[in-house]
Amino acid sequence: MSDPTQRRSRILSGMRPTGKLHLGNLAGALSNWVKLQDHYESFHFVADWHMLTTDYADTSELQANIREMVTDWLAAGLDPEKATLFVQSGVVQHAELHLILSMITPLGWLERVPTYKEALENIRDRDIHTYGFLGYPVLQTADILVYKADGVPVGEDQVPHVELTREIARRFNSFYGRVFPEPQALLTPTPRLPGTDGRKMSKSYNNAIYLSDAPEVVNQKLATMVTDPARKRRYDPGNPDVCPVFDLHKVFSGPEVIDRVNRECRTAEIGCLDCKRLLADAVNRTLYPIRERRKLYEQEPQRVGEVLEQGTEKARQVAETTMGEVRKAVRLR
Ligand code: TRP
Ligand code: SF4
Repeated sequence: MSDPTQRRSRILSGMRPTGKLHLGNLAGALSNWVKLQDHYESFHFVADWHMLTTDYADTSELQANIREMVTDWLAAGLDPEKATLFVQSGVVQHAELHLILSMITPLGWLERVPTYKEALENIRDRDIHTYGFLGYPVLQTADILVYKADGVPVGEDQVPHVELTREIARRFNSFYGRVFPEPQALLTPTPRLPGTDGRKMSKSYNNAIYLSDAPEVVNQKLATMVTDPARKRRYDPGNPDVCPVFDLHKVFSGPEVIDRVNRECRTAEIGCLDCKRLLADAVNRTLYPIRERRKLYEQEPQRVGEVLEQGTEKARQVAETTMGEVRKAVRLR
């Protein structure tokens, strides 16, 4: 990578537009993207078509959610001078490649994908027995291959999709000649962040702390967070190993604070209120530069749209070059 004559390895990753992002999204993906942009040629996109595979019936919030999410990307430090940021549906080449790949993807490969089986069992409020939802990983494959990405930074849950991408790339290459490299998953160490109720932090559980929350909101949310349930009174010793507040300390606090809480909780020297105040300080320290950058973008409301416009234009050129090779390899026009 230090060899300037070689092109930097290219990475690509997408996020479905769920709206404003929370600490779990930051720790799980976003802060990693920000680090990677200095080392890789980075492409990051809003997976709005992927959102439609499950949330097709009500798209009233889609555009607002895209905007809020990308504002959080920029606030968190993704830099449009370094990374290409774009919207999937703005690059129709993803759809063209998805169509072609769908012809060569055996149904069995898709039915076996673990996320598919889980979703069929768990999602009850929407009907996902659709053609489009079964094809979700084929669309993701097209997203990755249309940029010939070398690496795909994702969490554990997405690894089967990257594996499928490799299999589809191999199958395409075996029929039509070698067009696609086989990408690698760049596994993001994803600490599973608990929300204020102790369950996994998630928008749908109403337990999330958002990157856009003001300091007072962060303080107040953490003040009501659940703790070690066995520690009922101030003088009861606690067990940080079973406390979701301590899980957040491990991600956001420095080693001294983590050490102190780990000791003084067990001896009841520190109370939960003080412990949570220390955590709030650490979280607010993490969020401070993010808030400052958000202010800059809020002063120029057209800026987010411009960033996406420029990124989409650049992505389109790269994707079109690949599609030229694909059409030729398959002997389409
Ligand atoms: N499926 C991914 C998720 O739910 C989002 C995604 C879509 C993606 N296309 C991608 C991630 C391509 C990496 C590469 O998180
Ligand atoms: Fe949890 Fe901190 Fe209370 Fe211990 S002191 S139980 S780690 S909140």
